[in-house]
Amino acid sequence: MSLAAAVATALAVLAYSCTAADPDTVSARRPLRGNGTVVSAQGKFELGLFSPGASGRFYLGIWYKNVPVQTVIWVANRASPLSSAASAELRVSPDDGNLELVGLIQNSASPAVAWSSNMSLSPSTSPSPSPGSNIAVMRDDGNLVLLGGDDSSTVLWQSFDHPTDTLVPYAWLGENKVTGEYQTLTSWRDAEDPAPGMFTDTVDRNGSSEFFLLWNGSRAYWRSGVWTGSVFANLPEAVNNVLFNQTYVDTPAYRRVTSVLYDNATITRMVLDLTGQTKQYIWVPGSQSWQFFWAAPTVQCDVYSLCGAFGVCSRRSQPPCQCPRGFAPAAERDWGLSDWSAGCQRSAPLLCGGNGRPTDDGFLELPDMKLPDDPLAVSVRTRAECESACLNNCSCQAYAFSGDGSCAVWNDGFRNLEQLYADAGNSSAATLYLRLPESELHGAKRKSRRLWLVLGIILACLAALGASALVAWVLLSRRKRRRSEMADQLKGSSLQVYSCGDLRAATKNFSEMLGGGGFGTVYRGVLNGGTEVAVKKLEGLRQGDKQFRTEVSTLGLIKHVNLVQLLGFCSSGDEKMLVYEYMRNGSLDAYLFGGSGRQRPSWRDRCGIMVGIARGLAYLHEGCRECIIHCDVKPENILLDGDLCPKIADFGMAKLVGRDFSRVLTTMRGTIGYLAPEWISGLPISAKADVYSFGMLLFELISGRRNADAGHGSDADEGDAGGQQRPPSTFFPVWAASRVVAGDMAAVADPRLRGDVVEGELERACRVACWCIQDQEAHRPAMAQVVQALEGVVDVQMPPVPRVLQHLATMT
Ligand SMILES: *[C@@H]1O[C@H](CO)[C@@H](O)[C@H](O)[C@H]1NC(C)=O
Ligand SMILES: *[C@@H]1O[C@H](CO)[C@@H](O)[C@H](O)[C@H]1NC(C)=O
Ligand SMILES: *[C@@H]1O[C@H](CO)[C@@H](O)[C@H](O)[C@H]1NC(C)=O
Ligand SMILES: *[C@@H]1O[C@H](CO)[C@@H](O)[C@H](O)[C@H]1NC(C)=O
Ligand SMILES: *[C@@H]1O[C@H](CO)[C@@H](O)[C@H](O)[C@H]1NC(C)=O
Ligand SMILES: *[C@@H]1O[C@H](CO)[C@@H](O)[C@H](O)[C@H]1NC(C)=O
Ligand SMILES: *[C@@H]1O[C@H](CO)[C@@H](O)[C@H](O)[C@H]1NC(C)=O
Ligand SMILES: *[C@@H]1O[C@H](CO)[C@@H](O)[C@H](O)[C@H]1NC(C)=O
Repeated sequence: MSLAAAVATALAVLAYSCTAADPDTVSARRPLRGNGTVVSAQGKFELGLFSPGASGRFYLGIWYKNVPVQTVIWVANRASPLSSAASAELRVSPDDGNLELVGLIQNSASPAVAWSSNMSLSPSTSPSPSPGSNIAVMRDDGNLVLLGGDDSSTVLWQSFDHPTDTLVPYAWLGENKVTGEYQTLTSWRDAEDPAPGMFTDTVDRNGSSEFFLLWNGSRAYWRSGVWTGSVFANLPEAVNNVLFNQTYVDTPAYRRVTSVLYDNATITRMVLDLTGQTKQYIWVPGSQSWQFFWAAPTVQCDVYSLCGAFGVCSRRSQPPCQCPRGFAPAAERDWGLSDWSAGCQRSAPLLCGGNGRPTDDGFLELPDMKLPDDPLAVSVRTRAECESACLNNCSCQAYAFSGDGSCAVWNDGFRNLEQLYADAGNSSAATLYLRLPESELHGAKRKSRRLWLVLGIILACLAALGASALVAWVLLSRRKRRRSEMADQLKGSSLQVYSCGDLRAATKNFSEMLGGGGFGTVYRGVLNGGTEVAVKKLEGLRQGDKQFRTEVSTLGLIKHVNLVQLLGFCSSGDEKMLVYEYMRNGSLDAYLFGGSGRQRPSWRDRCGIMVGIARGLAYLHEGCRECIIHCDVKPENILLDGDLCPKIADFGMAKLVGRDFSRVLTTMRGTIGYLAPEWISGLPISAKADVYSFGMLLFELISGRRNADAGHGSDADEGDAGGQQRPPSTFFPVWAASRVVAGDMAAVADPRLRGDVVEGELERACRVACWCIQDQEAHRPAMAQVVQALEGVVDVQMPPVPRVLQHLATMT
């Protein structure tokens, strides 16, 4: 190479590194201005200004470059937003080498420093010789680092040391023992305001390895348990470890939890959100949506003060927070944005002190409650004395009196009142007596209103009579026309067309809920002839009448003894319902994992159920005119008829909602345990995805326990485990697959069976399950083969342990 050429190359390299290169870098020479952004080398993360919602406030943040729903993982100026992006600048300060954001802070006229990396405050860093030459680099793991020193390789400051509400793989939470700084997560204040909210996730400040979720910086409402060497004791399960390897380390310099992805292509994050729960999500490229993975605490009502003062939390209602009678939300707008922390306030003040007579107040009886925290004990002997103790103090808001003679009162307010349900068999349920002014209790103005009410009713009746006659006539004639139109379209299928009004009546105005699926809620109904049916009220369906009827009539043609039969439907405007045959024995999950009292399913019954489900799926995949992929095979979607014959429900919904799998997935909350790896890696979905889910379901049928037990331990381990050892908090299939390969099938079988199984059948079922959950689609059998294998028509080879699970199998 000639000298000239060498020089030219060197110059080109130099020019390149000074200008076009380093799109991931901010330096003194290359500040970030206005709406410009910096992208990490492989294009995973982007740094720039963003404005949440319609707030008109601007924040410096980091988000995923490849996720179209902007998902912010870090915010610099959480509490000091800029009022415009145009004048903003992120630069390396020439004075001290700090990274700083300069711009118009709200309510100020001239630009100021809204945020600074403040690294000079850290005693561990010695000042750089030339601070102005520091550079900030956006890295591919989501870490923004400020580099300095002679060769620009010393990390002076990094965003991973200052997380906001999100923990990504490779980042950490813990304590820097040198600087005394803690890495904690703090929730946003509301959906549009990243300022620090009420909830924090922090390592134990006393030095143990345990993590706490705190309310208002002090009140712990969830604890992770200590690090056992491989997991945190209370964390739901090692499902976690399917994606990444989490470790906790304690060195003289720091103690922290961090994790390493098994596959760097996986996009996953843990966020401490507005509900006070930490939630793990995975980005599913195939559906372009975030898939919920797990949450802690699992139950929303366990979050301290979720519903604020006087709020009532209920696990069964949506939203979970309600105000008791005589109260209304204190902040109506926040309440609408799912921020219930402001709680409820009295609609009318207590009369106490006003009229002078304490008896003007009364008590509303709220039975089946989990009582609020922090009661004040009063030593009295009877309920009457307890009540008058409360009435005699104007600050007393409520009291409770328990059978053993203890009286508790709450002054000034209470938090964490929870509605419990009688059928949950919860012995901690108690009755709370809530103090209300007499007017709220009985409606004092009722008498004066009565006359007007009577007059009004008479008038209204007359008017309604006339109007309804007219409406009925119009409706009848229109319905007749509509029905004959529909009948034409449905020729060939035996589907009944109902009016939505009839179905409303049949379900007694949707009063008896049977279950909630991905696409709507299912109610029990009784048709005119006395036939019991299940009515599914479809939600979020934006489909024209005609297309809907076409799809439904195709579904009506699908008939198999192991598929729930569609009987009919109604469609009127936005209201659409499907009518199915009613299944007396409910769903498989209730049968398998349900509460006590029920008979434990025998091995014979389980075998019948396995083969039945397999036949139903095989028919969907290969027996119909068009292959139907179910996409959501799980115990909740298997129903049992009076003879315990399994029938698959909810098939064909993907087509019904418009051939759009992403809609299917986004509605499948919390069922990731059944999802084949290709859902997460973004490969195209085939019928083999159902095979994978079926394999997971098989393990549950065999073992009688949930694969991914959300709770602590499992229901199945009720004492009679027969001395068998089971890992209390691992992802069950990990362990099961290793036992199967080791030839120890008996360990996998449900201990409740007490060994009452047919060994050959157990071995076959275990091997089939293991084959079904292979990573590679090509290695999984087709459903037709599964049927043959379960029936014993063909032999089943010894399966390998699936690779995704393999590195975990050694853990236990
Ligand atoms: C960025 O701002 C400039 C000027 O303020 C504007 O012309 C440009 O369209 C903006 N770019 C984007 C991507 O918004
Ligand atoms: C930086 O330090 C100053 C002075 O101690 C403080 O007021 C400011 O809040 C700090 N900023 C950040 C981002 O920590
Ligand atoms: C995955 O990403 C981390 C962090 O960016 C990196 O250290 C590691 O080398 C990457 N692993 C592979 C296999 O690319
Ligand atoms: C931490 O230690 C203090 C003082 O010993 C004690 O009062 C507090 O309860 C401890 N906190 C926890 C979470 O153990
Ligand atoms: C939160 O704690 C602070 C003191 O640490 C206290 O002043 C404040 O009243 C608490 N907030 C609520 C809503 O209780
Ligand atoms: C997880 O990481 C730790 C520490 O880096 C390592 O010792 C362990 O073998 C890893 N576990 C797995 C299953 O990869
Ligand atoms: C009433 O309750 C307030 C608040 O707890 C308390 O300070 C006060 O002593 C009580 N008064 C009586 C008469 O018990
Ligand atoms: C009863 O409710 C309490 C409080 O919510 C809870 O801690 C306990 O686990 C429940 N017990 C049962 C059997 O559900």
